[in-house]
Amino acid sequence: MTTKSQELLNWIDERFPLTSTWKAHLSEYYAPKNFNFWYFFGSLALLVLVLQIVTGIFLVMHYKPDASLNASGIPVAFASVEYIMREVPGGWLIRYLHSTGASAFFVVVYLHMFRGLLYGSYRKPRELIWIFGTLIFLALMAEAFMGYLLPWGQMSFWGAQVIVNLFSAIPVIGPDLSLVIRGDFVVSDATLNRFFSFHVIAVPLVLIGLVLAHIVALHEVGSNNPDGVEIKKKKDANGIPLDGIPFHPYYSVKDIVGVVGFLIFFSAIVFFAPEGGGYFLEYNNFIPADPLKTPLHIAPVWYFTPFYSVLRAITYPLFGIDAKFWGVVGMGASVVVIAFLPWLDRSPVKSIRYKGGLFKAILAVFIVAFFILGYLGVLPPTPGRTLVAQICSVIYFGFFLAMPWYSKLDKCKPEPERVTFK
Ligand code: HEM
Repeated sequence: MTTKSQELLNWIDERFPLTSTWKAHLSEYYAPKNFNFWYFFGSLALLVLVLQIVTGIFLVMHYKPDASLNASGIPVAFASVEYIMREVPGGWLIRYLHSTGASAFFVVVYLHMFRGLLYGSYRKPRELIWIFGTLIFLALMAEAFMGYLLPWGQMSFWGAQVIVNLFSAIPVIGPDLSLVIRGDFVVSDATLNRFFSFHVIAVPLVLIGLVLAHIVALHEVGSNNPDGVEIKKKKDANGIPLDGIPFHPYYSVKDIVGVVGFLIFFSAIVFFAPEGGGYFLEYNNFIPADPLKTPLHIAPVWYFTPFYSVLRAITYPLFGIDAKFWGVVGMGASVVVIAFLPWLDRSPVKSIRYKGGLFKAILAVFIVAFFILGYLGVLPPTPGRTLVAQICSVIYFGFFLAMPWYSKLDKCKPEPERVTFK
Protein backbone atom coordinates (compact mmCIF):
# COMPACT_ATOMS: atom_id res chain seq x y z
CA MET A 1 0.00 0.00 0.00
CA THR A 2 1.30 3.50 -0.78
CA THR A 3 1.86 5.81 2.18
CA LYS A 4 -1.05 8.00 1.05
CA SER A 5 -3.55 5.13 1.01
CA GLN A 6 -2.13 3.76 4.30
CA GLU A 7 -2.63 7.20 5.84
CA LEU A 8 -6.21 7.29 4.57
CA LEU A 9 -6.86 3.80 5.99
CA ASN A 10 -5.38 4.84 9.36
CA TRP A 11 -7.57 7.92 9.34
CA ILE A 12 -10.67 5.76 8.74
CA ASP A 13 -9.60 3.08 11.27
CA GLU A 14 -9.30 5.72 14.00
CA ARG A 15 -12.95 6.59 13.37
CA PHE A 16 -14.53 3.35 12.09
CA PRO A 17 -13.53 -0.33 12.66
CA LEU A 18 -12.85 -1.00 8.95
CA THR A 19 -9.63 -3.08 9.12
CA SER A 20 -10.68 -4.95 12.27
CA THR A 21 -14.10 -5.82 10.73
CA TRP A 22 -12.42 -6.95 7.50
CA LYS A 23 -10.07 -9.17 9.52
CA ALA A 24 -12.71 -10.56 11.90
CA HIS A 25 -15.18 -11.49 9.16
CA LEU A 26 -12.99 -12.14 6.11
CA SER A 27 -9.19 -12.31 6.14
CA GLU A 28 -8.92 -13.76 9.66
CA TYR A 29 -12.24 -15.60 9.82
CA TYR A 30 -11.13 -19.24 9.78
CA ALA A 31 -13.49 -21.55 7.95
CA PRO A 32 -13.06 -25.34 7.76
CA LYS A 33 -10.86 -26.30 4.82
CA ASN A 34 -13.17 -29.09 3.63
CA PHE A 35 -16.17 -27.07 2.37
CA ASN A 36 -17.78 -28.71 -0.68
CA PHE A 37 -20.46 -27.99 -3.31
CA TRP A 38 -23.18 -27.64 -0.68
CA TYR A 39 -21.43 -24.64 0.85
CA PHE A 40 -22.05 -22.49 -2.24
CA PHE A 41 -25.68 -21.82 -1.41
CA GLY A 42 -25.27 -19.40 1.52
CA SER A 43 -23.35 -16.90 -0.58
CA LEU A 44 -25.71 -17.55 -3.51
CA ALA A 45 -28.69 -16.74 -1.27
CA LEU A 46 -26.98 -13.44 -0.46
CA LEU A 47 -26.43 -12.81 -4.17
CA VAL A 48 -30.10 -13.45 -5.00
CA LEU A 49 -31.21 -11.24 -2.11
CA VAL A 50 -29.18 -8.36 -3.56
CA LEU A 51 -30.46 -9.13 -7.08
CA GLN A 52 -34.08 -9.02 -5.88
CA ILE A 53 -33.57 -5.73 -4.08
CA VAL A 54 -31.79 -4.05 -7.02
CA THR A 55 -34.23 -5.28 -9.69
CA GLY A 56 -37.12 -4.46 -7.32
CA ILE A 57 -35.94 -0.85 -7.02
CA PHE A 58 -36.04 -0.48 -10.81
CA LEU A 59 -39.44 -2.17 -11.12
CA VAL A 60 -40.96 0.23 -8.58
CA MET A 61 -39.91 3.16 -10.80
CA HIS A 62 -42.60 2.11 -13.31
CA TYR A 63 -45.00 -0.17 -11.46
CA LYS A 64 -48.32 1.27 -10.13
CA PRO A 65 -50.20 -0.45 -7.30
CA ASP A 66 -53.64 0.56 -8.53
CA ALA A 67 -56.58 -1.80 -9.09
CA SER A 68 -58.81 0.75 -10.86
CA LEU A 69 -59.47 0.28 -14.56
CA ASN A 70 -57.73 2.44 -17.17
CA ALA A 71 -59.40 3.86 -20.30
CA SER A 72 -59.08 0.46 -22.02
CA GLY A 73 -60.78 -1.34 -19.12
CA ILE A 74 -57.52 -2.97 -17.91
CA PRO A 75 -56.47 -2.68 -14.23
CA VAL A 76 -53.75 -0.01 -13.94
CA ALA A 77 -51.42 -2.36 -11.97
CA PHE A 78 -51.65 -5.07 -14.65
CA ALA A 79 -51.16 -2.49 -17.42
CA SER A 80 -48.11 -1.03 -15.66
CA VAL A 81 -46.45 -4.47 -15.68
CA GLU A 82 -47.24 -4.82 -19.39
CA TYR A 83 -45.80 -1.32 -19.89
CA ILE A 84 -42.58 -2.44 -18.14
CA MET A 85 -42.46 -5.52 -20.40
CA ARG A 86 -43.12 -3.75 -23.69
CA GLU A 87 -42.23 -0.06 -23.43
CA VAL A 88 -39.59 0.49 -20.75
CA PRO A 89 -36.09 -0.02 -22.27
CA GLY A 90 -34.73 -3.23 -20.72
CA GLY A 91 -37.87 -3.48 -18.61
CA TRP A 92 -38.54 -7.07 -19.72
CA LEU A 93 -35.10 -8.07 -18.47
CA ILE A 94 -35.52 -6.39 -15.10
CA ARG A 95 -38.94 -8.01 -14.68
CA TYR A 96 -37.77 -11.48 -15.71
CA LEU A 97 -34.70 -11.20 -13.47
CA HIS A 98 -37.03 -10.40 -10.58
CA SER A 99 -39.69 -13.04 -11.32
CA THR A 100 -37.12 -15.77 -12.06
CA GLY A 101 -35.11 -14.48 -9.09
CA ALA A 102 -38.03 -15.36 -6.80
CA SER A 103 -37.94 -19.00 -7.91
CA ALA A 104 -34.13 -19.02 -7.83
CA PHE A 105 -34.24 -17.71 -4.26
CA PHE A 106 -36.32 -20.69 -3.17
CA VAL A 107 -34.18 -23.20 -5.12
CA VAL A 108 -31.05 -21.81 -3.46
CA VAL A 109 -32.61 -21.61 0.01
CA TYR A 110 -34.08 -25.14 -0.20
CA LEU A 111 -30.63 -26.50 -1.15
CA HIS A 112 -29.04 -24.40 1.62
CA MET A 113 -31.48 -25.85 4.18
CA PHE A 114 -30.92 -29.36 2.82
CA ARG A 115 -27.18 -28.93 3.38
CA GLY A 116 -27.99 -28.12 7.03
CA LEU A 117 -29.97 -31.33 7.20
CA LEU A 118 -27.16 -33.38 5.60
CA TYR A 119 -24.41 -32.16 7.88
CA GLY A 120 -26.38 -31.49 11.08
CA SER A 121 -25.47 -27.79 10.86
CA TYR A 122 -28.41 -26.97 13.14
CA ARG A 123 -26.90 -28.90 16.08
CA LYS A 124 -25.34 -27.26 19.13
CA PRO A 125 -23.85 -24.58 19.09
CA ARG A 126 -25.62 -23.47 15.86
CA GLU A 127 -29.24 -23.57 17.06
CA LEU A 128 -29.71 -19.80 16.70
CA ILE A 129 -28.30 -19.76 13.16
CA TRP A 130 -30.96 -22.35 12.33
CA ILE A 131 -33.77 -20.47 14.09
CA PHE A 132 -32.86 -17.24 12.29
CA GLY A 133 -32.82 -19.34 9.11
CA THR A 134 -36.34 -20.65 9.72
CA LEU A 135 -37.55 -17.10 10.37
CA ILE A 136 -35.87 -16.02 7.11
CA PHE A 137 -37.73 -18.83 5.34
CA LEU A 138 -41.06 -17.64 6.80
CA ALA A 139 -40.33 -14.02 5.86
CA LEU A 140 -39.33 -15.15 2.37
CA MET A 141 -42.65 -16.95 1.95
CA ALA A 142 -44.56 -13.84 3.06
CA GLU A 143 -42.46 -11.71 0.70
CA ALA A 144 -43.12 -14.00 -2.29
CA PHE A 145 -46.82 -14.31 -1.51
CA MET A 146 -47.35 -10.56 -1.33
CA GLY A 147 -45.19 -9.93 -4.41
CA TYR A 148 -47.33 -12.32 -6.40
CA LEU A 149 -50.43 -10.15 -5.91
CA LEU A 150 -48.78 -7.09 -7.50
CA PRO A 151 -49.12 -7.95 -11.24
CA TRP A 152 -52.87 -8.15 -10.50
CA GLY A 153 -53.44 -11.09 -12.86
CA GLN A 154 -56.02 -13.84 -12.38
CA MET A 155 -53.66 -16.01 -10.28
CA SER A 156 -52.51 -13.02 -8.22
CA PHE A 157 -56.09 -12.20 -7.36
CA TRP A 158 -57.51 -15.66 -6.80
CA GLY A 159 -54.41 -17.02 -5.07
CA ALA A 160 -54.59 -14.16 -2.56
CA GLN A 161 -58.33 -14.73 -2.22
CA VAL A 162 -57.81 -18.41 -1.30
CA ILE A 163 -54.90 -17.85 1.10
CA VAL A 164 -56.33 -14.81 2.91
CA ASN A 165 -59.65 -16.65 3.30
CA LEU A 166 -57.79 -19.38 5.17
CA PHE A 167 -57.18 -16.99 8.04
CA SER A 168 -60.93 -16.61 8.49
CA ALA A 169 -61.02 -20.27 9.61
CA ILE A 170 -59.21 -19.37 12.86
CA PRO A 171 -61.83 -19.47 15.65
CA VAL A 172 -62.96 -16.16 17.21
CA ILE A 173 -60.41 -13.77 15.61
CA GLY A 174 -60.37 -15.32 12.10
CA PRO A 175 -62.97 -13.21 10.28
CA ASP A 176 -61.59 -9.94 11.69
CA LEU A 177 -58.03 -11.02 10.99
CA SER A 178 -58.71 -11.70 7.32
CA LEU A 179 -60.51 -8.36 7.12
CA VAL A 180 -57.42 -6.61 8.50
CA ILE A 181 -55.15 -8.45 6.06
CA ARG A 182 -57.34 -7.54 3.07
CA GLY A 183 -58.32 -4.08 4.28
CA ASP A 184 -61.69 -4.81 2.71
CA PHE A 185 -64.35 -7.53 2.53
CA VAL A 186 -62.86 -8.81 -0.72
CA VAL A 187 -59.36 -8.67 -2.23
CA SER A 188 -59.34 -5.13 -3.61
CA ASP A 189 -57.33 -1.99 -4.22
CA ALA A 190 -56.79 -1.68 -0.44
CA THR A 191 -55.26 -5.18 -0.39
CA LEU A 192 -53.04 -4.36 -3.35
CA ASN A 193 -51.76 -1.20 -1.66
CA ARG A 194 -50.93 -2.82 1.66
CA PHE A 195 -49.31 -5.84 0.02
CA PHE A 196 -47.24 -3.43 -2.08
CA SER A 197 -46.11 -1.57 1.01
CA PHE A 198 -45.18 -4.79 2.81
CA HIS A 199 -43.49 -6.31 -0.24
CA VAL A 200 -41.42 -3.26 -1.06
CA ILE A 201 -40.24 -2.11 2.34
CA ALA A 202 -41.54 -3.85 5.50
CA VAL A 203 -40.67 -7.47 4.76
CA PRO A 204 -37.36 -6.69 2.97
CA LEU A 205 -36.24 -4.76 6.08
CA VAL A 206 -37.12 -7.75 8.26
CA LEU A 207 -35.33 -10.07 5.84
CA ILE A 208 -32.16 -7.99 5.79
CA GLY A 209 -32.19 -7.77 9.61
CA LEU A 210 -32.63 -11.53 9.93
CA VAL A 211 -29.89 -12.28 7.39
CA LEU A 212 -27.52 -10.02 9.37
CA ALA A 213 -28.42 -11.82 12.60
CA HIS A 214 -27.97 -15.16 10.80
CA ILE A 215 -24.42 -14.27 9.73
CA VAL A 216 -23.45 -12.63 13.03
CA ALA A 217 -24.54 -15.83 14.83
CA LEU A 218 -22.60 -17.92 12.29
CA HIS A 219 -19.41 -15.90 12.79
CA GLU A 220 -19.77 -16.12 16.57
CA VAL A 221 -19.67 -19.94 16.63
CA GLY A 222 -17.93 -20.64 13.30
CA SER A 223 -19.04 -22.76 10.36
CA ASN A 224 -19.85 -26.43 10.52
CA ASN A 225 -18.49 -28.61 7.68
CA PRO A 226 -19.23 -31.83 5.76
CA ASP A 227 -17.61 -33.94 8.51
CA GLY A 228 -19.51 -32.22 11.32
CA VAL A 229 -16.21 -31.89 13.24
CA GLU A 230 -15.73 -28.79 15.43
CA ILE A 231 -12.52 -27.25 14.06
CA LYS A 232 -12.19 -24.96 17.10
CA LYS A 233 -11.33 -27.98 19.25
CA LYS A 234 -7.88 -28.33 17.66
CA LYS A 235 -5.90 -25.09 17.46
CA ASP A 236 -2.23 -24.27 16.84
CA ALA A 237 0.01 -22.23 19.17
CA ASN A 238 -1.44 -18.97 17.77
CA GLY A 239 -5.00 -20.06 18.52
CA ILE A 240 -5.79 -20.69 14.82
CA PRO A 241 -7.84 -23.84 14.12
CA LEU A 242 -5.59 -26.50 12.55
CA ASP A 243 -8.29 -27.34 10.01
CA GLY A 244 -9.23 -23.72 9.30
CA ILE A 245 -8.26 -21.48 6.38
CA PRO A 246 -8.97 -17.72 6.08
CA PHE A 247 -12.33 -17.07 4.41
CA HIS A 248 -10.66 -14.45 2.25
CA PRO A 249 -9.06 -15.18 -0.21
CA TYR A 250 -9.76 -18.94 -0.16
CA TYR A 251 -13.55 -19.02 0.01
CA SER A 252 -14.22 -15.59 -1.48
CA VAL A 253 -12.54 -16.96 -4.62
CA LYS A 254 -14.25 -20.37 -4.36
CA ASP A 255 -17.63 -18.63 -4.05
CA ILE A 256 -16.99 -16.84 -7.36
CA VAL A 257 -16.96 -20.28 -9.01
CA GLY A 258 -20.41 -20.90 -7.49
CA VAL A 259 -21.63 -17.50 -8.67
CA VAL A 260 -20.49 -18.17 -12.25
CA GLY A 261 -22.11 -21.64 -12.27
CA PHE A 262 -25.32 -20.19 -10.84
CA LEU A 263 -25.40 -17.30 -13.34
CA ILE A 264 -25.08 -19.73 -16.26
CA PHE A 265 -28.19 -21.64 -15.14
CA PHE A 266 -30.02 -18.51 -14.09
CA SER A 267 -29.42 -16.64 -17.37
CA ALA A 268 -30.43 -19.71 -19.37
CA ILE A 269 -33.84 -19.54 -17.66
CA VAL A 270 -34.17 -15.75 -17.76
CA PHE A 271 -33.37 -15.59 -21.48
CA PHE A 272 -34.86 -18.84 -22.79
CA ALA A 273 -37.62 -19.99 -20.40
CA PRO A 274 -38.62 -17.14 -18.06
CA GLU A 275 -42.10 -18.61 -17.55
CA GLY A 276 -40.55 -21.94 -16.53
CA GLY A 277 -43.30 -23.87 -18.31
CA GLY A 278 -45.93 -22.11 -16.20
CA TYR A 279 -44.15 -22.95 -12.93
CA PHE A 280 -42.29 -19.65 -12.46
CA LEU A 281 -44.95 -17.43 -14.04
CA GLU A 282 -48.36 -19.08 -14.22
CA TYR A 283 -50.18 -18.72 -17.55
CA ASN A 284 -53.40 -17.59 -15.89
CA ASN A 285 -51.50 -14.60 -14.58
CA PHE A 286 -51.22 -13.18 -18.10
CA ILE A 287 -54.98 -12.53 -17.85
CA PRO A 288 -55.98 -9.36 -15.90
CA ALA A 289 -57.63 -10.01 -12.50
CA ASP A 290 -61.36 -10.48 -12.83
CA PRO A 291 -63.30 -10.75 -9.54
CA LEU A 292 -66.27 -12.19 -11.46
CA LYS A 293 -64.41 -15.05 -13.16
CA THR A 294 -62.81 -17.75 -10.98
CA PRO A 295 -60.10 -19.73 -12.83
CA LEU A 296 -60.91 -23.45 -13.14
CA HIS A 297 -57.87 -24.42 -11.10
CA ILE A 298 -56.08 -22.20 -8.59
CA ALA A 299 -52.57 -23.41 -7.75
CA PRO A 300 -49.83 -21.65 -5.81
CA VAL A 301 -46.34 -21.21 -7.27
CA TRP A 302 -44.17 -24.35 -6.98
CA TYR A 303 -42.24 -23.29 -3.87
CA PHE A 304 -45.40 -23.22 -1.74
CA THR A 305 -46.91 -26.45 -3.01
CA PRO A 306 -45.48 -28.98 -0.48
CA PHE A 307 -46.98 -26.95 2.37
CA TYR A 308 -50.19 -26.27 0.43
CA SER A 309 -50.58 -30.04 -0.03
CA VAL A 310 -50.37 -30.52 3.75
CA LEU A 311 -53.15 -27.95 4.07
CA ARG A 312 -55.38 -29.78 1.60
CA ALA A 313 -54.57 -33.19 3.08
CA ILE A 314 -56.43 -32.35 6.29
CA THR A 315 -60.07 -33.00 5.50
CA TYR A 316 -61.58 -33.95 8.87
CA PRO A 317 -63.11 -31.57 11.41
CA LEU A 318 -61.82 -32.01 14.97
CA PHE A 319 -63.20 -30.80 18.34
CA GLY A 320 -66.12 -29.32 16.45
CA ILE A 321 -63.79 -27.01 14.48
CA ASP A 322 -63.79 -26.92 10.69
CA ALA A 323 -61.21 -29.03 8.75
CA LYS A 324 -60.09 -25.78 7.07
CA PHE A 325 -58.78 -24.54 10.41
CA TRP A 326 -56.81 -27.74 11.04
CA GLY A 327 -55.48 -27.49 7.51
CA VAL A 328 -54.11 -24.03 8.33
CA VAL A 329 -52.65 -25.39 11.60
CA GLY A 330 -51.07 -28.31 9.69
CA MET A 331 -49.59 -26.01 7.06
CA GLY A 332 -48.17 -23.64 9.71
CA ALA A 333 -46.84 -26.57 11.75
CA SER A 334 -45.12 -28.06 8.69
CA VAL A 335 -42.92 -24.95 8.48
CA VAL A 336 -42.54 -24.26 12.21
CA VAL A 337 -41.47 -27.85 12.98
CA ILE A 338 -38.27 -27.20 10.98
CA ALA A 339 -37.14 -24.76 13.70
CA PHE A 340 -37.15 -27.57 16.29
CA LEU A 341 -34.63 -29.79 14.46
CA PRO A 342 -31.74 -28.89 16.81
CA TRP A 343 -33.64 -30.52 19.67
CA LEU A 344 -35.16 -33.40 17.71
CA ASP A 345 -31.90 -34.83 16.39
CA ARG A 346 -30.27 -36.91 19.17
CA SER A 347 -27.68 -38.63 16.99
CA PRO A 348 -24.15 -38.85 18.51
CA VAL A 349 -22.75 -37.48 15.21
CA LYS A 350 -23.68 -34.45 13.14
CA SER A 351 -22.87 -35.35 9.55
CA ILE A 352 -24.70 -37.81 7.31
CA ARG A 353 -21.22 -39.22 6.49
CA TYR A 354 -21.13 -40.92 9.89
CA LYS A 355 -24.83 -41.60 10.39
CA GLY A 356 -26.17 -45.13 9.95
CA GLY A 357 -28.45 -46.75 7.38
CA LEU A 358 -31.61 -46.08 9.39
CA PHE A 359 -31.22 -42.29 9.28
CA LYS A 360 -30.24 -42.36 5.60
CA ALA A 361 -33.25 -44.53 4.67
CA ILE A 362 -35.69 -42.34 6.60
CA LEU A 363 -34.17 -39.19 5.06
CA ALA A 364 -34.60 -40.70 1.56
CA VAL A 365 -38.28 -41.50 2.25
CA PHE A 366 -38.78 -37.97 3.60
CA ILE A 367 -37.29 -36.40 0.46
CA VAL A 368 -39.52 -38.53 -1.80
CA ALA A 369 -42.60 -37.59 0.29
CA PHE A 370 -41.65 -33.89 0.13
CA PHE A 371 -41.40 -34.02 -3.67
CA ILE A 372 -44.71 -35.88 -3.98
CA LEU A 373 -46.38 -33.27 -1.76
CA GLY A 374 -44.88 -30.56 -3.96
CA TYR A 375 -46.16 -32.23 -7.11
CA LEU A 376 -49.65 -32.86 -5.74
CA GLY A 377 -49.91 -29.22 -4.67
CA VAL A 378 -49.99 -28.03 -8.29
CA LEU A 379 -52.70 -30.52 -9.31
CA PRO A 380 -56.44 -30.25 -8.66
CA PRO A 381 -57.38 -32.59 -5.78
CA THR A 382 -59.09 -35.97 -6.36
CA PRO A 383 -59.91 -38.51 -3.61
CA GLY A 384 -56.89 -40.63 -4.66
CA ARG A 385 -54.50 -37.67 -4.65
CA THR A 386 -55.81 -36.53 -1.27
CA LEU A 387 -55.08 -39.98 0.16
CA VAL A 388 -51.50 -39.89 -1.19
CA ALA A 389 -51.09 -36.36 0.22
CA GLN A 390 -52.33 -37.61 3.60
CA ILE A 391 -49.79 -40.47 3.60
CA CYS A 392 -46.98 -38.10 2.57
CA SER A 393 -48.01 -35.55 5.24
CA VAL A 394 -47.77 -38.29 7.89
CA ILE A 395 -44.29 -39.18 6.57
CA TYR A 396 -43.34 -35.48 6.58
CA PHE A 397 -44.28 -34.95 10.22
CA GLY A 398 -43.07 -38.45 11.18
CA PHE A 399 -39.59 -37.57 9.92
CA PHE A 400 -39.38 -34.73 12.44
CA LEU A 401 -41.43 -36.01 15.36
CA ALA A 402 -39.94 -39.53 15.44
CA MET A 403 -36.39 -38.20 15.05
CA PRO A 404 -35.55 -38.25 18.80
CA TRP A 405 -36.25 -41.98 18.69
CA TYR A 406 -34.70 -43.17 15.42
CA SER A 407 -31.67 -40.85 15.58
CA LYS A 408 -30.70 -42.54 18.87
CA LEU A 409 -31.39 -46.03 17.55
CA ASP A 410 -29.30 -45.49 14.41
CA LYS A 411 -25.90 -47.28 14.26
CA CYS A 412 -23.42 -44.46 13.61
CA LYS A 413 -19.73 -44.60 12.67
CA PRO A 414 -17.24 -42.76 14.90
CA GLU A 415 -16.61 -39.14 13.90
CA PRO A 416 -12.94 -38.46 12.93
CA GLU A 417 -10.74 -36.22 15.12
CA ARG A 418 -9.87 -33.93 12.22
CA VAL A 419 -11.75 -33.01 9.03
CA THR A 420 -11.16 -35.27 6.02
CA PHE A 421 -9.58 -33.38 3.15
CA LYS A 422 -8.02 -34.55 -0.10
C1 HEM B 1 -32.00 -15.12 2.57
C2 HEM B 1 -31.75 -16.35 2.95
C3 HEM B 1 -30.43 -16.81 3.53
C4 HEM B 1 -29.19 -16.26 3.39
C5 HEM B 1 -28.79 -15.01 2.59
C6 HEM B 1 -28.28 -17.09 4.13
C7 HEM B 1 -26.91 -16.86 4.20
C8 HEM B 1 -26.01 -17.74 4.78
C9 HEM B 1 -24.58 -17.66 4.62
C10 HEM B 1 -23.83 -16.60 3.79
C11 HEM B 1 -24.04 -18.69 5.32
C12 HEM B 1 -22.53 -19.05 5.40
C13 HEM B 1 -22.14 -19.82 4.15
C14 HEM B 1 -22.68 -21.22 4.10
O1 HEM B 1 -22.55 -21.91 5.12
O2 HEM B 1 -23.26 -21.62 3.07
C15 HEM B 1 -25.12 -19.42 5.97
C16 HEM B 1 -24.97 -20.50 6.79
C17 HEM B 1 -26.02 -21.22 7.36
N1 HEM B 1 -27.38 -21.05 7.09
FE1 HEM B 1 -28.17 -19.60 5.93
N2 HEM B 1 -28.98 -18.12 4.72
C18 HEM B 1 -30.29 -17.98 4.38
C19 HEM B 1 -31.33 -18.83 4.76
C20 HEM B 1 -31.21 -19.90 5.61
C21 HEM B 1 -32.29 -20.78 6.00
C22 HEM B 1 -33.73 -20.64 5.51
C23 HEM B 1 -31.76 -21.71 6.86
C24 HEM B 1 -32.44 -22.84 7.58
C25 HEM B 1 -33.66 -22.87 8.00
C26 HEM B 1 -30.34 -21.44 7.00
C27 HEM B 1 -29.45 -22.15 7.79
C28 HEM B 1 -28.08 -21.98 7.81
C29 HEM B 1 -27.14 -22.77 8.61
C30 HEM B 1 -27.50 -23.89 9.59
C31 HEM B 1 -25.86 -22.28 8.33
C32 HEM B 1 -24.54 -22.79 8.91
C33 HEM B 1 -24.09 -23.90 7.99
C34 HEM B 1 -22.82 -24.57 8.39
O3 HEM B 1 -22.00 -23.94 9.09
O4 HEM B 1 -22.67 -25.75 7.98
N3 HEM B 1 -30.06 -20.34 6.23
N4 HEM B 1 -26.31 -18.83 5.60
